[in-house]
Amino acid sequence: MKKQLFALLFALVPCTAMAAGGASVPYSMEPDLQDQASLQNGMKLYVNYCMGCHSLEYQRFARAAHDLGMPQDLVEENLIFSSDLAYNDQLHIAMDSGDAEGWFGAPPPDLTLEARLRGTDWIYSYLLSFYKDPSRPTGVNNAVFDLVAMPNVLEPLQGVQEKVCAETDRPVEGAELDPLTGKYQSCETLQVTQPGEMEPDEFEEAVYDLTNFLAYVGEPSKLQAQTLAPKVLIFIFIFGVIAYLLKREYWRDIH
Ligand code: HEC
Repeated sequence: MKKQLFALLFALVPCTAMAAGGASVPYSMEPDLQDQASLQNGMKLYVNYCMGCHSLEYQRFARAAHDLGMPQDLVEENLIFSSDLAYNDQLHIAMDSGDAEGWFGAPPPDLTLEARLRGTDWIYSYLLSFYKDPSRPTGVNNAVFDLVAMPNVLEPLQGVQEKVCAETDRPVEGAELDPLTGKYQSCETLQVTQPGEMEPDEFEEAVYDLTNFLAYVGEPSKLQAQTLAPKVLIFIFIFGVIAYLLKREYWRDIH
């Protein structure tokens, strides 16, 4: 028994190690793979704003269309912009990664498994944390990914975000707690100083949808598993009742 307990304890060690591994990020989000409208909007944003640079090599348009409930003609009309790409193709990009490295200083990585690599909280926070920094070649830096080579491609939607000195509720890095108000004073607070096409909460929702889509892409079968799970449980329950009745029938005359 003791041996088994030890084995169980050791089996749990990797979980705690993983839990400790995640660096702290300012925002968090809970993916909802059942929210088709959000996933569809996420895919629309992805092909419009991200696919110029980032491929999704392990995801096909056809699979996404099937999983997210989008008809083929709509996908072909609205989501496939390149004549080199067909409905059954993966989300390839035209850009050569060597060229990209020359242009940006770092190649834009494939994002199929990004949600599993970095986690959805990280992606969500990263996309919300670009801020104006004239000292950078792209004119922006990122509070979650310092000295990032990616330009802030969502700026037309979000507007210009800058670091300002302000009060916040969150204990951000370098913030000082004001004991009188219970708020934190920080000159690292990010604030939109020139509005974009979207209000801040609309923009957060768009980034949520985009991150939700990347969560789906990282593990497409999870969506199927979640849809299947209740059916399997109902089946097990009904089968359990039948098996129990059968057992009673078999054992009725044996005592
Ligand atoms: C103009 C090209 C370009 C576009 C468009 C672009 N990115 Fe990037 N992205 C980059 C580059 C270059 C990097 C590498 C940054 C680095 O390593 O410093 C990057 C890095 C990233 C990373 C971090 C990867 C990692 O783990 O290191 C994520 C996440 C990301 N991009 C998401 C997006 C999303 C989502 C969009 C669409 C809203 C997008 N990108 C649009 C160029 C681009």
